[in-house]
Amino acid sequence: MAAAALEVLGLSKSYRAGWRREPRRALDGLSFTIPEGAVMGLLGPNGAGKTTTLKMIMDFISPDSGEVRILGRPWRDAEARRQVGFLPEQPYFQLYLTPRSLLRHLSRLLGMPREEAEARISHLLPLVGLGEEADLQLSRFSRGMLQRLGIAQALLNRPRLLVLDEPSGGLDPLGMVEMRRLLQDVRDQGTTILFSSHQLSEVEEICDHLCIIDRGREVAQGSMRELLGAEESYEVTVAEGSWDPAAGGDERGWAWVVPGRRVRFPSSLLDTSLRALARGGAVVEEVRPVRLTLEEFFLREVEGRGSE
Ligand SMILES: Nc1ncnc2c1ncn2[C@@H]1O[C@H](COP(=O)(O)OP(=O)(O)O)[C@@H](O)[C@H]1O
Ligand SMILES: [Mg+2]
Repeated sequence: MAAAALEVLGLSKSYRAGWRREPRRALDGLSFTIPEGAVMGLLGPNGAGKTTTLKMIMDFISPDSGEVRILGRPWRDAEARRQVGFLPEQPYFQLYLTPRSLLRHLSRLLGMPREEAEARISHLLPLVGLGEEADLQLSRFSRGMLQRLGIAQALLNRPRLLVLDEPSGGLDPLGMVEMRRLLQDVRDQGTTILFSSHQLSEVEEICDHLCIIDRGREVAQGSMRELLGAEESYEVTVAEGSWDPAAGGDERGWAWVVPGRRVRFPSSLLDTSLRALARGGAVVEEVRPVRLTLEEFFLREVEGRGSE
């Protein structure tokens, strides 16, 4: 079995908001595993505990209980730490620097030999779409450009695991498309990615694994296919007037989207439903698989729990 890039094992954390108040649980026994080479989205509304989780993986804060393993090693192991790149929720850069000078500075902190650093920087800046702006002062950068520079700094040490806290935060729609492409490129080079988001659309496009959390607890997790594919259904459109509902047929499990014209049923009923339609004289115009969107899934899981 391939080694897991990241194992998060029962992390819990409480914060005390003011010294007299009772501590509040920000994270409650969260566990998940990311296989090497996979992209996992940590999805949840604001305050769900995403940043807390990522900061614990990075060892910036300590959990009350639980542990993390990175590429099979304990997460505080120096060798494990060297394999991780991180983009914080609000990266902060000295604005008088340029992308090249910033990355040079960071490469010295990482102890990279100079020539290797120069080669790495020349590779990374075009990769994140900043090839032309390599020597432009950061004070002139847009939010999206700074965010892409943040990815470049996270990739500087060739991490095998990239951890990103809301990488699309504050980006406009075009910036989000670019970010998605960039993460796909990084993944295609074999890097495992964990990123947090409250943006459903971006998660659905990039991830192959998903962990949904709310109020510090897991709501659901699994591969995209497991989570959304299980809900697969079909929508069948029949020619106007060709189907006579009175002619009968097994209609259990059917939901008419357009009465007499377009019907939806679970994939398990595909065969019997098509036969029933045929018996009723229906001329089938279209059979289309329908997957639950992440949006629908999320609303159902999170809001359903909220109203309990
Ligand atoms: N340093 C802190 N002190 C007290 N409470 C905190 C602190 N950091 C986070 N929290 C609380 O923990 C919960 C989870 O926060 P966070 O991990 O930042 O959520 P997310 O990143 O999903 O928006 C929130 O209720 C937040 O208010
Ligand atoms: Mg956060």
